[in-house]
Amino acid sequence: MVGCYERFWIDCLRQRLLCWRAMNGHTSATLLGEKIGHLRMLSSLIWQWEARFKGVQFLGKATFIGRPLVSVARGSKIVLSDGVRLYNALRANPLANFQPCVLRTMTGAASLILGPSVGLSGTVLCAGASIEIGEETIFGSGALVLDNDFHWPAGEWGWTTDEETCRKNARPIKIGRGVFVGARAIILKGVTIGDRAAVGAGAVVTKDVPAGHVAVGNPARVFRPEANG
Ligand SMILES: CC(C)(COP(=O)(O)OP(=O)(O)OC[C@H]1O[C@@H](n2cnc3c(N)ncnc32)[C@H](O)[C@@H]1OP(=O)(O)O)[C@@H](O)C(=O)NCCC(=O)NCCS
Repeated sequence: MVGCYERFWIDCLRQRLLCWRAMNGHTSATLLGEKIGHLRMLSSLIWQWEARFKGVQFLGKATFIGRPLVSVARGSKIVLSDGVRLYNALRANPLANFQPCVLRTMTGAASLILGPSVGLSGTVLCAGASIEIGEETIFGSGALVLDNDFHWPAGEWGWTTDEETCRKNARPIKIGRGVFVGARAIILKGVTIGDRAAVGAGAVVTKDVPAGHVAVGNPARVFRPEANG
């Protein structure tokens, strides 16, 4: 049985929700989700401290939503410039993230440098040599950037993952400024992508993409947008 006191609070809450809906044209559920999102951002301060503790350098203010997977090899470098955004939580991307962001250096000589306002959504960056990403470049959900192959033949049938082989095998990746990388794209070792280029969803990029060009498919073919249209 609901008493007067409880009814008063239920009415207040209902009024508040109706008011939000009227003011913003969103459903109450959407607005509630937004509030929960803000709470999640608060808890993400803890994950920023964790990253700092692991050796990540912050050059300004970053935003984490949810907890990324961070691994910094001894002697290596991970740098997040001002305005970097890491969307790790399932609900932090309109397509949903099926995994958190992964920032990993795999050798003592590796570096992973994210320029100002780079945005990652469930994006995996693994550097054995170096991965450098220019300012305002954004990644769709679940893209991978790998500057080495992770596993190399060893012995008759085996595979090794040792640091020395990784160091020899890795080739730097450079991604320019204002690049858009579509969801689930894969960028492989040794690739340079120029400023303002775009990589299509699901593309596998094995060769350089000049500035202002678009790369689509597997293996990615590259074209100038005007020439194509
Ligand atoms: C790459 C992209 C930006 C190109 O858009 P666009 O300039 O409008 O290009 P078009 O749709 O005119 O396509 C141009 C050509 O590329 C092909 N193409 C476009 N995107 C492709 C893709 N992802 N994979 C394979 N081929 C693709 C088209 O079939 C077309 O080929 P054709 O000339 O042989 O007919 C867009 O297709 C894309 O992949 N967007 C990514 C969306 C996304 O992942 N968002 C992130 C959300 S988190």
